[in-house]
Amino acid sequence: MNGQLFNNENQLMILFGGTGDLTFRKLLPALYNLQKTDRLPTRFRVLIIGRRPYTSESYHEQMRSWIEGNARFRIDEESYQRFCEKVEYFQMDFNVPDGYGPLRERLNTLDPDRSAQRVYYFAVSPASFVVIAQDLAKAGLATQNPQDLIIIEKPFGDDLQTASEINEVLETVFVPSNIYRIDHYLAKEMVQNVLAIRFANVIFEGIWNRDYIDNIQISAAETVGVETRGNYYDHTGAIKDMVQNHLLQILSLVTMEKPLDESARSIHDAQYAVLAKVRFPQGEELGSSLVVGQYTVARESEENRSYRHEEKVDSQSMTETYAALKLEVDTPRFKDVPIYIRTGKRMHKRSTEIAITFKKSFYHGEQAKNDVLLIKVQPDEGVYFRFNIKKPGQEYSLQSVFMDFCQSCIYENRINTPEAYERLLFAAFAEDSSLFTSWDIAKNNWQFIEDLNREMPRQNVQLYFYESFDDGPVQAREMLERDGREWVEEKVLGDDFQA
Ligand SMILES: NC(=O)c1ccc[n+]([C@@H]2O[C@H](COP(=O)([O-])OP(=O)(O)OC[C@H]3O[C@@H](n4cnc5c(N)ncnc54)[C@H](OP(=O)(O)O)[C@@H]3O)[C@@H](O)[C@H]2O)c1
Repeated sequence: MNGQLFNNENQLMILFGGTGDLTFRKLLPALYNLQKTDRLPTRFRVLIIGRRPYTSESYHEQMRSWIEGNARFRIDEESYQRFCEKVEYFQMDFNVPDGYGPLRERLNTLDPDRSAQRVYYFAVSPASFVVIAQDLAKAGLATQNPQDLIIIEKPFGDDLQTASEINEVLETVFVPSNIYRIDHYLAKEMVQNVLAIRFANVIFEGIWNRDYIDNIQISAAETVGVETRGNYYDHTGAIKDMVQNHLLQILSLVTMEKPLDESARSIHDAQYAVLAKVRFPQGEELGSSLVVGQYTVARESEENRSYRHEEKVDSQSMTETYAALKLEVDTPRFKDVPIYIRTGKRMHKRSTEIAITFKKSFYHGEQAKNDVLLIKVQPDEGVYFRFNIKKPGQEYSLQSVFMDFCQSCIYENRINTPEAYERLLFAAFAEDSSLFTSWDIAKNNWQFIEDLNREMPRQNVQLYFYESFDDGPVQAREMLERDGREWVEEKVLGDDFQA
């Protein structure tokens, strides 16, 4: 491949946080995958910025094992060599203003005629976004140059105020439409597939509304705890860490109107329009429609500890590691259709799924089971559909059957499916911001979380403790039972269901 994939085939990436976990586990493997599949710009270089005293050569040696462990392709020497030629290490402490002069000099040497598209990537804590952006500007770098892009890692701020402050500074330093805010869930294969499933199938497009859909569920469960991120997580919690971004983003793709066209602008507009209409139950009803929990030890395992015993977590912490919430989207398409979302750490299995449960039919004197469409996002990717047919034989009765398409079971699909960061980097190099979040959306979602956080103590929302590697607080199950529903999962779908 290669050739005219990008508007500008001359690109220079400047990666802050180049010695961090995200760079090693995701960004370098993604760049190597792009190299391997010939999808980097023809003239591409990346300047890796970190404090540690590497040379480019010692950095190359270090990155080899990370690429080996995390890229979807095995290292082949020729590609790796070509990749190394594009990766240069630059040592600097980004909190020291004097360091930005030498950085400018180095960039000028790499790009003397200023013809490269410079792609800045902040893979650092959000607390450092402002200082880096301001010092880049003071050094005469990134001053509203229409060619420069900036990619910002999640989380985009800690709350509405910090997010607004960050945004204000970024928008003075970079052209606003060139700010690419990451929500890597948007780049997952099956999240992208939500739009194809909805809009490329008349059987779904025609019934994707309140007349036919009984409820929508979005679940994101992890088996891991907070691991080494206790410091960050303890002042964040599941609602800010997962609901504010990933779950609301997925919800918007499931419930939005069809975008006017495929442009980033139209997709963002459609997402924003529906996100502005997301409501949580008001008054006392919130107390029974929001369940928050925190993991404790599992009864039958000695290898785990409770959240409060994790490193860098307050021993009296009241931070939630689980949240289940009933929402509504106040649009003509979905008004009064409950949308249940949940996310948790230390759950019994890792899985992200979107379940659309359709209303029940009544036929031949018999109440049929709900049809269910389940979109499996991760770790398995696929689509499961449960529907009703007549049981074979003389007697008339219904039975529930299913079709189960496992996309990730097919070897070629696993190998050919770019991972989220690969897709995101490629999209950024191609100046396609549709997989990123707009400021309108980020701001709206922070406002939503602030409103929710303000209401929680008023409505006496309790923190429940749940056992590690189980289903989460029993109250989350009861929340649905009160509505005459249940969470769509293996035990509900039956023994034949393949997770
Ligand atoms: N890790 C993930 O899987 C993941 C996933 C989603 C989002 N994120 C987000 O991505 C960002 C980075 O996460 P991470 O896990 O990679 O963090 P990390 O492992 O702590 O890495 C932080 C990076 O920032 C560098 N750094 C810190 N202070 C510096 C300074 N004064 N001057 C120069 N470099 C400095 C560190 O360099 P040193 O090596 O010199 O300390 C390191 O390269 C965070 O916002 C995080 O929330 C991470």
